[in-house]
Amino acid sequence: MSYCLNPICQKPENPDAANFCVNCGSRLVLKDLYKAIEPIGQGGFGRTFRAVDLGRFGQPCVIKQFFPPAQNNPAALQKSIELFNREAEQLNELGKHPQIPELIAYFEQDASLYLVQELIEGQNLAEELEEQGAFSEQKIRELLLDLLPAIQFIHDRQVIHRDLKPENIIRRQVDRRLFLVDFGAAKVVTSKRDFAKTGTVIGSAEYTAPEQTRGKAVFKSDIYSLGVTCIHLLTNISPFELYDDVHDVWIWQQHLPMPVSGSIARIIDRMLARAIVSRFDSSIDILKALDRRGTIASAAQAGDIQISLSTQTVDYTYLRDRLALGDWQAADRETNTLILKLAGRSKKKELTATDIKKVSCDDLDTIDRLWMNYSKGRFGFSVQRTIWESMGGLLYYDAESYWRFADTYLKFANRVGWRTRKSWLTKWEWIKYGDFDFSLQAAQGHLPGICYWDGFGIMDSLFYRLKSCHDSYD
Ligand SMILES: Nc1ncnc2c1ncn2[C@@H]1O[C@H](COP(=O)(O)OP(=O)(O)O)[C@@H](O)[C@H]1O
Ligand SMILES: [Mg+2]
Ligand SMILES: [Zn+2]
Repeated sequence: MSYCLNPICQKPENPDAANFCVNCGSRLVLKDLYKAIEPIGQGGFGRTFRAVDLGRFGQPCVIKQFFPPAQNNPAALQKSIELFNREAEQLNELGKHPQIPELIAYFEQDASLYLVQELIEGQNLAEELEEQGAFSEQKIRELLLDLLPAIQFIHDRQVIHRDLKPENIIRRQVDRRLFLVDFGAAKVVTSKRDFAKTGTVIGSAEYTAPEQTRGKAVFKSDIYSLGVTCIHLLTNISPFELYDDVHDVWIWQQHLPMPVSGSIARIIDRMLARAIVSRFDSSIDILKALDRRGTIASAAQAGDIQISLSTQTVDYTYLRDRLALGDWQAADRETNTLILKLAGRSKKKELTATDIKKVSCDDLDTIDRLWMNYSKGRFGFSVQRTIWESMGGLLYYDAESYWRFADTYLKFANRVGWRTRKSWLTKWEWIKYGDFDFSLQAAQGHLPGICYWDGFGIMDSLFYRLKSCHDSYD
């Protein structure tokens, strides 16, 4: 199917192959590239569509369409286009975070403004709540651990989301990672001048912090909305019902299907504080409160890790936070994602020795040092390289040494626990990635697992790169 984007079209459904709307004659392919398939959301200021990007072999994407206000007033239209362009630039920056959809394009066409972004396959949390019922405490803890670093990331870049709620959080199906969507969407077309006067509520009333309702959103307003999101997910009851207006207090705990621990209740209550001063100061503070083992707090305080967390190309905050929490599995996945990004590839199996040369020394070193620091030397490329060399592994590949490479690679895999055998008498066999030991009890050099995927194809170039980078520092 193809969907007509003309806001007043009476019969927008069109056959797949159509280039112009059968009903109203509008062009169906934006910029000759983006074609809407079906609507997936409708807000006050625009609509959201599932779409395909014909410039990228029909890869799925999302089109967001905004109707700027005061279309009969050219000056106002110009103003909202300017605002929109500024927002889009900001979105483009934010899209570099692994939990925020990437911005593909933005433009104006036929008096509508468009954003095209990466499609996240999965369900939003409102849909998940409806399907699976109230969230457990454990699920809420995981949600906070996953989302707070992303929220800190946007706040660090001076952006307030303003509309955090279950509908705007998507759980990606493939890896269950949470994504934030609907950034400043309302803000784009609702400069305060235009809407505050008419009393239109920006954001979603149930989730909006008191100060934001009065038109003064601050970073902490997002923390409040995230708190309301948590109690909605924990109780499966509309936040309106969870507030006692007579006594001016939250009464969410009495609506819980299952009681929660005092510690999480206190954390959520501090997110929900109506007075800004009583609320948590930042996402990092909530992360610290959640993290009973205190790993983040102690690492940050000890100051033993002074690593710049963002280079020109990628951001390491997410990797750092996963490592600090000892979530080795998520950290390993993130490492694959980062290396692929730095090498300009989209799939692990496409990665070649030549690509590794594109990864800058700074980037490679940052990833390595984060791993080495947080695992206290157990995991990281450096420790893998030491093991590799101690087993006679070469750093320079040439066709003649193929068998030697293959042989050392297998021995290496045995040593770091990528292959195992049941007893001395049975053969060594490769383990499945799902059977990796994501704990500090794993063999030294067990992680990161990127060379597990590619055989020794990239191993020598990775270690060689690491060596030449270190040599150049000395
Ligand atoms: N990039 C995306 N990938 C997948 N689904 C998305 C994406 N962006 C939005 N959605 C889905 O579409 C719905 C509406 O989009 P949203 O950006 O929130 O617009 P609205 O302003 O209408 O709330 C969201 O609740 C979400 O379920
Ligand atoms: Mg939304
Ligand atoms: Zn039409």
